[in-house]
Amino acid sequence: MRDELLDPRPGPEDEPVEEELGLRPRRLDDFVGQRELKEHLSILLEAARRRGQPADHLLFAGPPGLGKTSLAGIVANELGVRMHVTSGPAIERAGDLAALLSNLEPGDVLFVDEIHRLSRAVEEVLYPAMEDFQVDLLLGKGPAARSIRLDVSPFTLIGATTRTGLITGPLRDRFGLVARLEFYDADDLEAIVVRTAGILAVDATREGAREIAGRARGTPRIANRLLRRVRDFAEVRAAGVVDQTAAQAGLLLFGVDEIGLDKVDRAVLRSLCERFNGGPVGLKTLAISIGEPEETVEDVYEPFLIQQGLVIRTPRGRLATPAAWAHLGLAAPPPGQSGLF
Ligand SMILES: Nc1ncnc2c1ncn2[C@@H]1O[C@H](COP(=O)(O)OP(=O)(O)OP(=O)(O)O)[C@@H](O)[C@H]1O
Ligand SMILES: [Mg+2]
Repeated sequence: MRDELLDPRPGPEDEPVEEELGLRPRRLDDFVGQRELKEHLSILLEAARRRGQPADHLLFAGPPGLGKTSLAGIVANELGVRMHVTSGPAIERAGDLAALLSNLEPGDVLFVDEIHRLSRAVEEVLYPAMEDFQVDLLLGKGPAARSIRLDVSPFTLIGATTRTGLITGPLRDRFGLVARLEFYDADDLEAIVVRTAGILAVDATREGAREIAGRARGTPRIANRLLRRVRDFAEVRAAGVVDQTAAQAGLLLFGVDEIGLDKVDRAVLRSLCERFNGGPVGLKTLAISIGEPEETVEDVYEPFLIQQGLVIRTPRGRLATPAAWAHLGLAAPPPGQSGLF
């Protein structure tokens, strides 16, 4: 039942096809939006360049598809260093991390995606590496075990996570900058659609770009994906031009509603309102009721619904707001008879 089109996680068609790689902004100036974060980064990068030292360790947090990986690449590119890419679940043993670290050249960027999924044992190795560029390795087992200390090249760790809440305090504290990426507004998304249309040589009007931007769930990856699908639609059913009419008709066909919600988003709202009378309902119960894993509801669907003011999170569970009832075209329960109002 998943709607691949609007799932902000990378899909099979996104990466690493050449098209997608070509879409990745390479310089800070090409990266649209997130102005405050860009400003912090440009200062940090300039300072590192002047000192001739690696930049501070950076942590990028935020929902899928907002540009965390792109930003990591930009940092490495702007500093003119190599980026080594790995992920939390890929580093199984402390020794794996030690091997990665000892391969770094001075100034290199080590990008660890899904850093909240590192095991504790691996995290322990990371701490001294981040602080003192040293790795403590335990060789052997039992009474004969001994620990050796290795120096590694000064490097910049860039972590990415969809869940800041799952990053341990000690790890978080070792980053020089912890940045949260926000959902993009319609203007920024429009600029992204226009940029992508230019790169893919798609004939898109401003109104067409705007229509797609307004329904992209605040997410560049989705904006790019919708543009591709509307382009297909326009080629087959319209004159090949992505204008407002083609965008509207295409998006209607793909089940994307006026505010960009897909089937799963609407299932979450429907379940909250119709089955649970607006809540409060626990995440687990809600997830089961729509047949999605808990993590998916929490990481992928809920953040945008919350940002749109359709759902709120309380200690007692999730609640539907009056806007959610209105969006579904349902009458909200009378005051005093719902969990919220
Ligand atoms: N600010 C931006 N300007 C232009 N394009 C962007 C921007 N942010 C993201 N994109 C585009 O959206 C796509 C997804 O971005 P990216 O892979 O960096 O997201 P992510 O946050 O790492 O996602 P995930 O959590 O799934 O790893 C990129 O291929 C890029 O083309
Ligand atoms: Mg990524």
